[in-house]
Amino acid sequence: MKYCFLALFFLSQNLFAMSNPGKPFGQTPAGESVTLYTLKNAKGMEVHIMNYGGIIQKILTPDRHGKVEDVVLGFETLQEYIKDTPYFGAIVGRFGNRIANGKFTLDGKEYTLAAQNNGQHLHGGLIGFDKKVWKVEAASAQSLSLSYVSKDMEEGFPGNLRVKMTYTLSEDNELGISYEATTDKATVLNLSNHSYFNLSGNAKRDILNQEVQIDASRLVAVNKVLIPTGELTPVNGTPFDFTKPHVVGDRINDTSSEQIVLGGGYDHCWALDKPAGSYAKIATVHDPVSGRKMTVSTDQPGVQFYTGNFLDGHLTGKYGVQITKRHGLCLETEHFPDSPNQPNFPSTVLRPGEVYKTKTAYQFSVN
Ligand code: GLA
Repeated sequence: MKYCFLALFFLSQNLFAMSNPGKPFGQTPAGESVTLYTLKNAKGMEVHIMNYGGIIQKILTPDRHGKVEDVVLGFETLQEYIKDTPYFGAIVGRFGNRIANGKFTLDGKEYTLAAQNNGQHLHGGLIGFDKKVWKVEAASAQSLSLSYVSKDMEEGFPGNLRVKMTYTLSEDNELGISYEATTDKATVLNLSNHSYFNLSGNAKRDILNQEVQIDASRLVAVNKVLIPTGELTPVNGTPFDFTKPHVVGDRINDTSSEQIVLGGGYDHCWALDKPAGSYAKIATVHDPVSGRKMTVSTDQPGVQFYTGNFLDGHLTGKYGVQITKRHGLCLETEHFPDSPNQPNFPSTVLRPGEVYKTKTAYQFSVN
């Protein structure tokens, strides 16, 4: 009898963990099945997420008239994500953004990574976390937990790394993203989500009229291959000053700014003003036409604000929309790019016995 109760207890726990079964979303070429989960709240907000790359495929949220539309770029089918995507909605890892020349030294040992972007390492390498099928740990109406074990030396990174992450949709229209990781050898780690937001709804306009505000008075300046020079430069008096809200398009082509020229617009990490390690609101985006507003909070030291400068129109996304330059914007909360080679940046080293823990939230409202 006792065992019977125990069995029922574990079964019910398991049923609770999987109270959201999701929907089949196709298979990878290797035959792994992918499932798409819909998180929903009572306010009518929905977030669709798949366990391939942990990709956020849709975020449906109301405008000021209550019209619910999609505010992220992406595709209708898994095959399109597998074929060619600029990281739409994906988790990037083991190391988000660039590492100079695809090399870093840790504890006196040099590691070599894929240098697939202009001779630099980008977003975890050739088959980064964005292209892995993650294990579904638990799925309910309002949350999804995924895990992935990255083997020692996968994509050149040392240590068996165990990652667990959870997406949670709250009743106040906030999508929370939390990550946890441990390793059995010292390694470097920089996880982020690469959603391209477009608050116009269903990507019907580019993002140039949208207003952005970032709580950062310094920029992580870059060189011509978008690797940090090591300097944190004041944004004051430059097109990078978003301490007060600014329309994205206003200064994006201001070629008197060397950093604008180097980035081809905005493609930089802002060094956030909040105290190190603290969790705070760090940025907002507002679309004056639809009234949609997004507030970003994080405990990370930086945010990569990228305005889709490399989107060149060769992809057609959901709703049949051609994805042209500046059709979406990313606010990737993260440690500064190239931190493994920059002794003065906050450390991205994770050692055995330590737990990497971080969270970010995107909250939607109207104004
Ligand atoms: C990041 C980088 C950009 C670009 C995109 C992906 O945000 O900073 O330069 O590589 O990812 O296309």
